[in-house]
Amino acid sequence: MNKPVLELLKWGQDCLRTVDARLESELLLSFVCEVSRFGLLKVDDVSYCHVDWYRKLIIRRSFGEPIAYLTGVKPFYNFEFSVNPSTLIPRFDTESLFELVASYVKNTPCVESILDVGTGTGALLISLVDYFKDRGILGAGLDISDEVLTLAQDNTKRLLAPELQSQISWHKSPNNLKTYDVVVSNPPYVSFSDWILTPKDVHVYEPERALIQELTLEEWLTMFEQWVKPGGRLFLEWGHSVQESTVGCFRVVDLVECGTKCYFLVLER
Ligand SMILES: C[S@@+](CC[C@H](N)C(=O)[O-])C[C@H]1O[C@@H](n2cnc3c(N)ncnc32)[C@H](O)[C@@H]1O
Repeated sequence: MNKPVLELLKWGQDCLRTVDARLESELLLSFVCEVSRFGLLKVDDVSYCHVDWYRKLIIRRSFGEPIAYLTGVKPFYNFEFSVNPSTLIPRFDTESLFELVASYVKNTPCVESILDVGTGTGALLISLVDYFKDRGILGAGLDISDEVLTLAQDNTKRLLAPELQSQISWHKSPNNLKTYDVVVSNPPYVSFSDWILTPKDVHVYEPERALIQELTLEEWLTMFEQWVKPGGRLFLEWGHSVQESTVGCFRVVDLVECGTKCYFLVLER
């Protein structure tokens, strides 16, 4: 039977019982009906098959499955990136990392190349190459996972104009990497004990490989050293255990606290 929108939203809210239950119900219903959240105002009745689909999504959400895995997309800066359970869902905090890099590149006309280490969906790199589309910046994305790289390539094809697509290369191994004017990275930095305490959405559904720290900050910095040109910049998202003594051959330019969970380290080689 067809159902009115308000009745369905109320049902979703009652099932989810979280602070964001109304918003999440709206997101899932608008996804199913293929309209924006505001577009829902213009929908009178929802057809039986859409009702059925919406109910299944609400039930999956009530078990903790992230909204982005249910809808298959996550907005990041100017685009909606495809996501799947092989990748970390791009975070709102990481948009601030994008803004830090973008502001540096804007004020540094000699920047011609950017490497994104642990690229995931490609959100940072694809957004940067698009933002500086008039500069012809060459981008390289490195990730340890084949599935993740396939997704990043799909996002590139879907979101970027063909001439921009050809400016990006994707790498599973660091062997073919060169040196870059800018290196940006949001590597896995959560300790195992902190990871266990993350909400179920995160520790049950998101890939451990993307979150749990395997390499120390010092080990990452030793790797980054070979990819940053002398005088170039490294922009790094990291957890709260950052100490200025751990920066190796880099000079600390800035240390920006982002919310309660992470820092952005800006380093010059
Ligand atoms: C925290 S996620 C960041 C994803 C994306 N850059 C973002 O900000 O949304 C970390 C990513 O690093 C990748 N990764 C983990 N270890 C790696 C390694 N040793 N070398 C390259 N990538 C790695 C994971 O597969 C994952 O995609």
